[in-house]
Amino acid sequence: MRERIIATIAARGGVPFPEYLEIALYDPELGYYSRAGTQVGRNGDFFTSVSVGPLYGRLLARRFLGWWETNGKPGAWRILEIGAHDGTLAADILSEIRLLSTPAWQALEYAIAEPLPRLRGLQKAYLEPLASRLRVAEGFGGIASHPLPGVAFGNEILDALPFHLIEMKGGVWHELHVIVGKNGTLALEPRETSLPLSGTFPEGYRTEVRTNYPGFLSSVAACLTDGLLVFADYGFAAPEYYDVYRSSGTLRTFSSHRAGEDPFAAPGETDITAHVDFTDLAKAAGALGYAPTAFNSQGSYLTHLAKPLILAGGMDDPKTIAQFRTLTHPAHLGARFHIIELTRSAEIPTDVAHRLAL
Ligand SMILES: C[S@@+](CC[C@H](N)C(=O)[O-])C[C@H]1O[C@@H](n2cnc3c(N)ncnc32)[C@H](O)[C@@H]1O
Repeated sequence: MRERIIATIAARGGVPFPEYLEIALYDPELGYYSRAGTQVGRNGDFFTSVSVGPLYGRLLARRFLGWWETNGKPGAWRILEIGAHDGTLAADILSEIRLLSTPAWQALEYAIAEPLPRLRGLQKAYLEPLASRLRVAEGFGGIASHPLPGVAFGNEILDALPFHLIEMKGGVWHELHVIVGKNGTLALEPRETSLPLSGTFPEGYRTEVRTNYPGFLSSVAACLTDGLLVFADYGFAAPEYYDVYRSSGTLRTFSSHRAGEDPFAAPGETDITAHVDFTDLAKAAGALGYAPTAFNSQGSYLTHLAKPLILAGGMDDPKTIAQFRTLTHPAHLGARFHIIELTRSAEIPTDVAHRLAL
């Protein structure tokens, strides 16, 4: 795998870091996510909130159903899930909506945009019992040709979008390109760049920037006539992300539940990710007419959603309590993950503007 990736990069005379990620993560033959295998879960490389158990999907289902109920109960609505992996979250959300509201269930189309054929196959097989409400598409295009009101959701999608690596050198920003060094191994080479990042940064400061939020969000937004975009991920508002003390950025690799920092250690065989700049995301959404209407730690967001269920005695069994603790406790996933909601044609609440430094 490594040899083939090195040959591809050598043939191109070096590539910017996002192009390296496109190959290492998404190349149809060589990419980490394209390969057969289980990347997510106990036997994989990393856990996500979805792997914790069905409670995550049940709580999100309540939020999405709440949107449907307070927005005129449209006779046809859509939940779009981006990057649905093996369909586990889709099954958890669909089962809860079917249980809670027959009219919402009957009006629903659960669409999955999944570029990888292997995962489309897994999703269709796993979701067979819920197939009456399901649509699995290769990309956003087919779904956007028939937009509906509703909700688009992505769990740990934004951190998987390719990013640029930049470094302050001689008082100016340089972009790090991936080259094949003299000894035949992959290396980083700084080249001057016009990629913008305002502020004063010390020499050697290295970080990441994404320039693909606008394109990604506009593909997602095109699938909805009106509605809500919801993303859960690890990340920060810009001031915390680009704190001068975070001088080596947030790039991480994950393999067999071990985190690393060398993106060239096992190309095509490890996940390579970086945190999300939620301020930048909110600005990109603003250009499409969406405003951030919630931005909370996962702990507080899910605790708020869980309140009615807790009061109704629906969370008393030990398994559900354990899932709730893992999803919300600050020492587990509760503080590291944030959830942002973006609503079309809405005002930005003052507290959200403050937390996102907008
Ligand atoms: C970290 S995994 C998360 C999987 C799943 N949502 C979960 O939480 O278990 C990231 C996923 O994002 C998917 N992905 C990245 N970019 C995408 C895009 N533009 N459209 C759809 N899926 C994408 C990848 O294929 C990968 O399956």
